[in-house]
Amino acid sequence: MSTPQNLIDGRAVAETIHRETADRLAALKARGVQPGLAFVRVGEDPASQVYVGMKERMSARLGIASKTHVLPEATSEAELLSLIASLNADAAVHGILVQAPLPKHIDPARVYASVSPAKDVDGFHPVNVGKLMLGDATGFAPCTPAGVHELLIRSGTVIAGAEVVVLGRGNIVGKPMAAILIQKARHADATVTICHSRSRDVAGHCRRADILIAAMGVAEFVKADMVKSGATVIDVGVNRVPDATAKNGHRLVGDVDFAGVQPVAGRITPNPGGVGPMTIAMLMRNTVRAAEMAVT
Ligand code: GUN
Repeated sequence: MSTPQNLIDGRAVAETIHRETADRLAALKARGVQPGLAFVRVGEDPASQVYVGMKERMSARLGIASKTHVLPEATSEAELLSLIASLNADAAVHGILVQAPLPKHIDPARVYASVSPAKDVDGFHPVNVGKLMLGDATGFAPCTPAGVHELLIRSGTVIAGAEVVVLGRGNIVGKPMAAILIQKARHADATVTICHSRSRDVAGHCRRADILIAAMGVAEFVKADMVKSGATVIDVGVNRVPDATAKNGHRLVGDVDFAGVQPVAGRITPNPGGVGPMTIAMLMRNTVRAAEMAVT
């Protein structure tokens, strides 16, 4: 699904997925099952407030019962683990999402490992990370790389045999993105290179890519001369840059210099309106799947 300008329209693809999710929700409700999703936010990180707000609104729109637990910045790790234990035990909660980043005094690995794997709609629990690596589809894949994968599939991008370069090796996007695309499976079978802050000749790697996925969090890092003509470019980045002309003093830009790269790319995601809506669509879909799995 792409617009005349060769944009990969994430909003349109996400809406298609929401319709599919709504059908599954209706089937669950017909069986008397009300899917429930718990959000946990610790502290007042402004970006996290925005993200959780968007996820709450989409849950409400689709008819997923969501509840947000906001804990103060000074919450101890033990208190957070205790809340998660109560959500794990609550049969009305099918999905649990603990918004990252967490305050510095809390170990995210311990927190994500405490979420029941069956309710881990973020795909951050080590069991789900392992299943993704193994190609075991019974786990949950993290929402952002799963959303990028769906965008590639539904925009008709050839993945099998493609040279893919992923910029960024984070646990939320880069590593799971590579794990998804290297699988011996339909819509995968790619040759994947991950570049990171210690990589040599990043631009050289990028220029070989048929599919370039930018997820390292550096504003407008990918320039036109780093992109092969006709490549598919996916911009995962969300970076705040100061902007004196903006009301709040900043604006959001991606990891790709969109104006420069668009004429070179075969296909490109707008940002916003590319990957962001897909992340939310995958979260909603994972939640409905968690509810389906809980009752079958
Ligand atoms: N922070 C940035 N992306 C994500 C995500 O996908 N899930 C959670 N829980 N936190 C995030």
